[in-house]
Amino acid sequence: MVTGGAGFIGSHLCARLLEQGHDVLCVDNFGTGTRANIAALFDHPGFELLRHDVTMPPILLKNSLRALKSTFLGVLRPLPQS
Ligand SMILES: NC(=O)c1ccc[n+]([C@@H]2O[C@H](COP(=O)([O-])OP(=O)(O)OC[C@H]3O[C@@H](n4cnc5c(N)ncnc54)[C@H](O)[C@@H]3O)[C@@H](O)[C@H]2O)c1
Repeated sequence: MVTGGAGFIGSHLCARLLEQGHDVLCVDNFGTGTRANIAALFDHPGFELLRHDVTMPPILLKNSLRALKSTFLGVLRPLPQS
């Protein structure tokens, strides 16, 4: 996850991480950043964009924790107790 990913530094960081084979979630409120900075990344299969102010209530974190819990319990529950 790159916060401020649509900014000057963030957009270059997103591009570099994608080049290295990482998946990238770019989070930006477009206060100063622009879609133009990341336009070249939109077609990359590993790139996702979330328009969100990181100082606001953590909707993303809440959803991520729910997903994590589902995944963890989904794997743990079917396993036999040892
Ligand atoms: N061509 C150039 O050389 C060039 C171009 C632009 C900037 N600069 C320089 O780069 C430096 C600034 O670059 P930067 O990348 O640090 O700044 P930036 O403003 O480009 O990037 C910050 C990013 O964070 C985002 N952001 C800010 N608050 C946020 C929040 N609460 N939630 C989500 N996103 C948020 C902004 O929308 C922006 O996309 C300055 O020194 C500037 O002079 C140089």
